[in-house]
Amino acid sequence: MAIAKSEFIWHNGKLIPWDDAEIHVMSHVVHYGSSVFEGIRCYAPPAGPAIFRAPEHMQRLLDSAKVYRMDVDYTRDQLVKAMMETVASNGTWPCYVRPIIFRGYGDAGVTALNSPTEVYIINYPFGYLGGESEACDVCVSSWTRIAPNTLPAMAKSGANYMNSQLIKMEANLNGFAEGIALDVNGFVSEGSGVNVFVVHREKLITAPLGNSVLPGITRDSVLQIAHDLGIPIVEQMIPREMLYIADEAFFTGTAAEVTPIRSVDKINVGTGAIGPITRAIQKEFYAIVRGEKSDRHGWLTPVPLRTKQPVERVRVPAAV
Ligand SMILES: Cc1ncc(COP(=O)(O)O)c(C=O)c1O
Repeated sequence: MAIAKSEFIWHNGKLIPWDDAEIHVMSHVVHYGSSVFEGIRCYAPPAGPAIFRAPEHMQRLLDSAKVYRMDVDYTRDQLVKAMMETVASNGTWPCYVRPIIFRGYGDAGVTALNSPTEVYIINYPFGYLGGESEACDVCVSSWTRIAPNTLPAMAKSGANYMNSQLIKMEANLNGFAEGIALDVNGFVSEGSGVNVFVVHREKLITAPLGNSVLPGITRDSVLQIAHDLGIPIVEQMIPREMLYIADEAFFTGTAAEVTPIRSVDKINVGTGAIGPITRAIQKEFYAIVRGEKSDRHGWLTPVPLRTKQPVERVRVPAAV
């Protein structure tokens, strides 16, 4: 699906017209995958547009850049401010925000240090996926997730998504919505763009970061919600077979939000119906992001309004 253009894109401190945000084919990132990025949601609660966990996303972006020795001229708070300015100037919400830092045009070789660091923040319309009611059928991928000490899984780098693309394409071509990748030791890692949770004997279980998983911000939010709801939480290595005998399972992610899993490899998760713990967590999550319940953890940062554009409740396919 074509991207719906916004008016402006933020580039190294300035808002520029969408069509001017171009790069040279010899930019380092094009050849060597040298980018780090974020995917963020701006929700549309009744009080006006609000960005979900803005500082946490920008901190993860800077952490990813640090791993790759990218010098960034902006602090976390300056990046949050720039994101607000971009969303407010474009006046489009609900939307998806894509900050990206990459190595630009400078040096043709693999050595990254002589290429300039470019920072962009892009936003475009992005609506509700309806994940609250829909469950998905998934498979275990034949592709292994990136191994520790190869590509760092805690950094959200463009290069990691070559592995994600293999997982996602294989799953989709075989008729599944998503693939769950195992880590190098055969334990459950994550999907192409989502973290995985299972419920087994009334405990909520998710893989620890050591199993090559991205420290998902939705994952963190769901762990907090589960804690608030008094649901026992365990971060432990998940053997593949636990996916088949779990009572419930779901994905979390900025695009996926909280998406229930109906079956894995054509084996129903529980009875195949959405389970009570998944429902309780979904209910709480959506109530907070839709402004129906108080934002008790301060997860929503309001965007200063400049336009009075009505909120469109559009449905669009998932992004990473
Ligand atoms: C590989 C991967 N894992 C997990 C997630 C979920 O992370 P978050 O909840 O921060 O979007 C994403 C999405 O960003 C992802 O790409």
